[in-house]
Amino acid sequence: MPAALDKKYLWHPFTLTDAWLAADYAPTVIVSGDGSWLCDDQGNKYLDGNSSIWTNIHGHRNATVSGAIRAQLDRIAHSSFLGLTNELAPVLGKRLVELADDDRLTRCFFSDDGATAIEAALKITYQFFAQNGEPQRKKFVSLSAGYHGDTVGAMSVGHSKLFHHCYRNMLFESDEVPVPYCYRCPFNQAAPQRADARAYARCGRECIAAVEKKFAADGARAAAWVVEPRVQGAAGFIMHPDNYLAETCAIAQRHGALVILDEVMTGFGRTGAIFAWQKEQVAPDLVALAKALTGGYLPLAVTLLTEKIFDGFRGDATRTFFHGHSYTGNQLGCAAALATLDILQSDNCADRQRRLAAALTAAHEKFWSLPAVGDVRQEGCILAIELVKDFSTREPFDPSLRVGARVCEAAKKHGLLTRPAGRDVLLLMPPYTTTPAEVDVMVSALCKGIEEVVN
Ligand SMILES: Cc1ncc(COP(=O)(O)O)c(C=O)c1O
Repeated sequence: MPAALDKKYLWHPFTLTDAWLAADYAPTVIVSGDGSWLCDDQGNKYLDGNSSIWTNIHGHRNATVSGAIRAQLDRIAHSSFLGLTNELAPVLGKRLVELADDDRLTRCFFSDDGATAIEAALKITYQFFAQNGEPQRKKFVSLSAGYHGDTVGAMSVGHSKLFHHCYRNMLFESDEVPVPYCYRCPFNQAAPQRADARAYARCGRECIAAVEKKFAADGARAAAWVVEPRVQGAAGFIMHPDNYLAETCAIAQRHGALVILDEVMTGFGRTGAIFAWQKEQVAPDLVALAKALTGGYLPLAVTLLTEKIFDGFRGDATRTFFHGHSYTGNQLGCAAALATLDILQSDNCADRQRRLAAALTAAHEKFWSLPAVGDVRQEGCILAIELVKDFSTREPFDPSLRVGARVCEAAKKHGLLTRPAGRDVLLLMPPYTTTPAEVDVMVSALCKGIEEVVN
């Protein structure tokens, strides 16, 4: 019944319409979850291999997070944040500032989703320069194939051909620099090896030189360098070489631009640090957080920023940041986030993350044994497997074959739910509560899927 109603009344994000509506396609109806497992209305169980689109970190039906939301419901669900505050948002703000552990990041601006956290960061930056003596700083510089969400500003600093091409005339102009994608870098002289391409790439660090060149050419007009730190998710879980982040952020700041980090996917422990930027010497000016902020329970987002930027909005009414959302600072979301952070900062969680990362590392060999695997890369609790038609030339499959998507469809029959990203890049990024035995099930489902579709 829900599937029939869905086909009649709904429209799904990032979903091929005709395939969804096809008479022989029966949508999966998720009815419950427990830990790393999701259950559908037919009684089938699946492991949540991508943490319900990168949001869930402590498992489904987590007693602490669910309990915090239930308790908050007995007080109040939501009240406006315009000219009012509430008892949870300031406490959450303090926790996030402490978690950022960076003397410069002292303020939080709440919104709802990853895209809104980025949108706020862009508008804050633009207005900050406009009303603080540098109105010429209007240009945002960001990475090719970047993805920062689907609102107009976020799309404007994204450069995904597939996602953004159709809208280009409604977007504002922004500058693009090449993606530091070691496996597919035209400057990488090394022949393919069965190892993470970042480890064996031979190049002249042209990706960093390109950023230097861009800022040298027009640094005085640059407002900000916008980047997903260390891992570009939607672009295909592209993992950047060490120090790319630190060096490019230093270049931007040397030219007077701000650094906006998009930690929407990488934040809250995914990469092995609480925030990915903390793995390098970086002093961001603004940071966008969402997704795992509430453990994958409720939409809530934050833009962290410096006191200097905040001060740039003080003064008369014309200097106000005229931006906000109805559900800003929502109490249920804040309660979920505080509980999520409590778990995240417990020793047990650190142990679980290490255990998960080790189990993902142990899976590399299994993937490497498959001829269609061209690159296996890992950053903390994120494992990405890139499929190729020809290992020796790195030639990708024809996109019309939808190899990555078909592998995921096949893996679903073996009890795994995940989605590919970029060009046939498979992803394992489950909740931190996932056990090594559950990782084994995921790996075997994905390997079977690869064998059934391509090998
Ligand atoms: C890096 C990054 N930024 C922003 C977003 C947008 O987040 P949301 O879907 O919550 O708007 C995403 C979503 O996948 C993301 O991966």
